[in-house]
Amino acid sequence: MSEIATERLAADEPGITRAAEILRQGGLVAFPTETVYGLGGDACNDRAVARIYEAKGRPSFNPLIVHLADLDAVKALVEWTDLADAAAAAFWPGPLTMVLPLRAGAPVSKLVTAGLGSLAVRMPANPAARALLRGFGGPVAAPSANRSGRISPTRAAHVLDTLDGRIEAVLDGGACEVGLESTILGLAGKPTLLRPGRITTEALSEALGRPVLARRDREAISAPGQLASHYAPRARVRLNAAEWHAGEARLGFGKTEGDCDLNLSPTGDLVEAAANLFEYLHRLDASGAEAIAVMPIPHVGLGVAINDRLNRAAAPRE
Ligand code: TXA
Ligand code: MG
Repeated sequence: MSEIATERLAADEPGITRAAEILRQGGLVAFPTETVYGLGGDACNDRAVARIYEAKGRPSFNPLIVHLADLDAVKALVEWTDLADAAAAAFWPGPLTMVLPLRAGAPVSKLVTAGLGSLAVRMPANPAARALLRGFGGPVAAPSANRSGRISPTRAAHVLDTLDGRIEAVLDGGACEVGLESTILGLAGKPTLLRPGRITTEALSEALGRPVLARRDREAISAPGQLASHYAPRARVRLNAAEWHAGEARLGFGKTEGDCDLNLSPTGDLVEAAANLFEYLHRLDASGAEAIAVMPIPHVGLGVAINDRLNRAAAPRE
């Protein structure tokens, strides 16, 4: 693929206007959301969507999330339900994606759904993301803005690490607040958690007024981004490190025995740890260490989502 000059755009009015124009022309723009940076393209333009897969080096069976600015635009694409309404009232705009049956005749490219009869939709809260979606005026398909299998980007610089020269622009909105990809709630059948995130199963169950099923292996395959080695740094990752080994980069959590290179949250705050996770993995990986040892993270609340990402980072590579 030939190199493209990737424009660096500020998240101000001229920057957002330019970014929307690039999307209208079928170009790719990486943009901030409150979870991670997304690699955006016009969801109704087959060529733009194909270029997202190409830029990411992503297997084509992995479907994309579509981002929208308002509820009417969402309802034009999916079969809306009372449960979706309850979840939207509680958590949108925000770090929640819902998978719903695709509406017949929805103008979304077939490449977005990778042939599934359902569509993942999300209404982000990040002001730059909302301004871009409003400025563009249509659905924007956006996976995380990283080469497939690498760590998700929480800053514009992370995007450029793997996508510079492959996309038309990056809109720099600073660091992402949540730092972990959105929670994915499957609503095409019984409410099912397809990917853990900032919004927990408990919070979803309460908003829906009914239990949300845990993801089972079969369902994990319907969210293929959830399989095998994902979010992988170059360095090997060793989890639940009770002690440090020579030559490892050390990633701490809470109070530590001796020194660590970086601490996800010295006070043991899981929200802070989630926001720092990908940024710190990026930094330790850039240090050139062969392995990254990570202290145990409590498996409660947001710790479930953090451990999910860490397990993928540590999974055997192909
Ligand atoms: O926070 C996020 O969700 C970020 C920002 C950019 O919005 N996006 C993101 O996208 O994480 P991506 O492509 O890296 O992850 C999308 C996940 C994948 O695991 C994919 O398999 C799943 O959503 N997915 C998409 N459409 C689906 C569908 N119709 N049914 C089940 N899973 C779906
Ligand atoms: Mg991703």
